[in-house]
Amino acid sequence: MSAYNRVYNFSAGPSVLPLPVLEKVRDELLNYDGSGQSVMEMSHRSSEFKKIAQEAEQNLRELMNIPDNYKVLFLQGGGTLQFSMVPMNLLRNTKKADYVLTGTWAKKAYKEACRFGDIKVVASSEDDTFTWVPKIKKEDIREDADYVYITTNNTIYGTAYNYVPETGDIPLVADMSSNILSEPVDVSKFGIIWAGAQKNVGPAGMTIVIIREDLIGHAGEEVPAYLDYKIHADNDSMYNTPPCFAIYVAGEVFKHIKATGGLDAMQKRNREKAAKLYEYIDSSELYKCPVAKEDRSIMNVVFVTGNADLDKKFVAEAKAKGLVNLAGHRSIGGMRASIYNAMPMEGVEALIEFMKEFEAANK
Ligand SMILES: Cc1ncc(COP(=O)(O)O)c(C=O)c1O
Repeated sequence: MSAYNRVYNFSAGPSVLPLPVLEKVRDELLNYDGSGQSVMEMSHRSSEFKKIAQEAEQNLRELMNIPDNYKVLFLQGGGTLQFSMVPMNLLRNTKKADYVLTGTWAKKAYKEACRFGDIKVVASSEDDTFTWVPKIKKEDIREDADYVYITTNNTIYGTAYNYVPETGDIPLVADMSSNILSEPVDVSKFGIIWAGAQKNVGPAGMTIVIIREDLIGHAGEEVPAYLDYKIHADNDSMYNTPPCFAIYVAGEVFKHIKATGGLDAMQKRNREKAAKLYEYIDSSELYKCPVAKEDRSIMNVVFVTGNADLDKKFVAEAKAKGLVNLAGHRSIGGMRASIYNAMPMEGVEALIEFMKEFEAANK
């Protein structure tokens, strides 16, 4: 337990937020910056809110070093709506797109895209329960594909790309829902980067879309207004009422990341946390991480004891000690420790301490 009797929360999302941000939001909840109102009560057209949204975008641009020829959109509909918006906007020439299947979310994106065009699976690790990430080469991709789609971090299976696939002139689209802002990325290598907010960014309800300008404006006439990126780009994400409170909290998270050293420092901390946990798991006799070493996520660490009843006992006893949400996804069981940006090293150390005790007691 830490300040305010808060637990160490290993939830995969919505997940832990930085405490200083929560404290600031609390302090500003009833009267934001002398406006006499809560951000929850503010018109999205007010000068106060416009400033909040503009600053949030500017800080995200600085953090990720987003080039000027990319638009940043703050949308609703969760990550799931992007499974549809991407094909509806990007199947603009041949209506072909190539997908890499690395887990449940990639598969859902693929299935949704199949409703709109000629979609090919160019690589998959499904036969090995998604325990590794395929290496994609340019030759694997159809020359006339409208885009290539990847999921950079696979929240459920605990894998991550350790490289950016080379796709030449074909736009690369990446779902970064569970690792955005965890480390620096070269945005210019991507056509679209999108991410649901509820892991490293802020509360659920907002989706960030970073899109290269030439990919905007290709939705067909039949595409509903809300699902057309151009509508949002032309209206600075204010075509309709945006997720105001989520944008505000995300903006505070961006400021906090900047103030704590930006993405280089974040990457260093995240790597240290993950290395410590994986090192312990690999050295233990009870726990096993099924993921190929070179493809391990630094955000979601999955492990098992090999005995489903013991796994359940682990999760229950950990919870009693204030280490919560350690159950693996309902589809695969086992354990999963999501150690996103806001999980402090002390949380990881407390988890390892508990794992040692549990191992000693259950030999
Ligand atoms: C990698 C990834 N993509 C997409 C989604 C779906 O996001 P949402 O629940 O916001 O629709 C999730 C949810 O956890 C995810 O982890």
